[in-house]
Amino acid sequence: MTRAGSPETWLITGGAGFIGSNFVLAARERGAARVVNLDLLTYAGNLKNLAALADDPDHLFVRGDIADRELVGRLLQEHQPRAVVHFAAESHVDRSIYGPQAFLETNVMGTFHLLEAVRRYWDGLPPPRQQDFRFLHISTDEVYGSLAPEDPAFAETTPYAPNSPYAASKAASDHLVRACRHTYGLPTLITNCSNNHGPFQFPEKLIPLMILNALKGKPLPIYGDGLNVRDWLYVTDHCEALRLVLAQGRVGETYNIGGNCEKTNLEVVGTLCAILDELFPDSPHRPHARLITFIKDRPGHDRRYAIDAGKISRELGWQPRESFESGLSKTVRWYVDHPEWVASVESGEYREWLELHYGRG
Ligand code: NAD
Ligand code: TYD
Repeated sequence: MTRAGSPETWLITGGAGFIGSNFVLAARERGAARVVNLDLLTYAGNLKNLAALADDPDHLFVRGDIADRELVGRLLQEHQPRAVVHFAAESHVDRSIYGPQAFLETNVMGTFHLLEAVRRYWDGLPPPRQQDFRFLHISTDEVYGSLAPEDPAFAETTPYAPNSPYAASKAASDHLVRACRHTYGLPTLITNCSNNHGPFQFPEKLIPLMILNALKGKPLPIYGDGLNVRDWLYVTDHCEALRLVLAQGRVGETYNIGGNCEKTNLEVVGTLCAILDELFPDSPHRPHARLITFIKDRPGHDRRYAIDAGKISRELGWQPRESFESGLSKTVRWYVDHPEWVASVESGEYREWLELHYGRG
């Protein structure tokens, strides 16, 4: 159920993607804001993610590009949002290795054009509304580069050292947001979050790819030795952190968000295989872990990410609710329970990508 008559409006970019759609659904469920959802619907955007809002008068979907300044300017004037929440991006490291240009166009130039349109709108607001306004930029821990096993986790003060074209493009967008705050005074907030999993994640990323392959008895392709470490967070915990940062975060600040949950890729895949073994005791693919296959490593593959989420915990009282096991069980169940969603994304562009990257099989 969504609530009508929300007190304020948010312009959300990329709200048909994985994290954006989870954020929009939660915002509408709480009646936190009226949502204008601007999304280009690239291969990663999916209106099925927003099906629950089909009859919601306080959710307006607009198909369009964040780089289209005129469109963004018009939406801002028409809807007078109190906040812009910026998720839209090219988000997959492997794709950035094959074709970095789209990452520069969307993540750097797209963010630049969006900021220009937002700045113009904000300049024209009366002072109390200028003070109230927020631009929340959603970024990644990958901007900080790779950690050695004994290094401390990434803090907000860790120097940027992006290693992939994706990470470099996100780092550039973070710098543009920072400069916009410093030079023009736009009230910005930046969050850098670790790897997410949960409903609606496109199955090019590790966890949904492995779940869907395992269900079909297909190989589970692990890059290199499988000992690369990521700090996993269930997506609704990320969305809750973003809601808090938007409501109470200090303007101009960066907040790191992470699950305090470092796992090697082999641990992640082993755990999800064990969950599937339990869910499907009669599966011919049991034990699913025997499907694990080691393949050639990703070029420039970052060894370890870990987030120190102390600042958001101290200042805003945020803690993840889900443990690794409880979150991963929910994620596995969601993919098992939503075969129509899976079938719809497994057609078209997604299949072509799998063939290009992993070969036929
Ligand atoms: P996603 O790839 O699932 O979704 C991106 C969305 O942006 C899609 O709906 C797509 O259609 C839209 N989009 C792309 N280009 C656009 C454009 N030019 N104009 C308008 N819309 C456009 O990504 P995600 O995983 O949901 O990530 C969302 C944000 O969070 C990204 O900025 C990403 O860098 C960041 N992030 C992701 C993770 C993660 O684990 N997925 C972790 C930390 C940060
Ligand atoms: P991914 O989900 O692509 O996120 P990121 O690279 O942004 O952290 O990958 C998570 C980890 O899983 C990363 O170390 C790469 C690894 N991985 C595999 O081993 N095999 C795969 O097929 C994929 C997609 C990822």
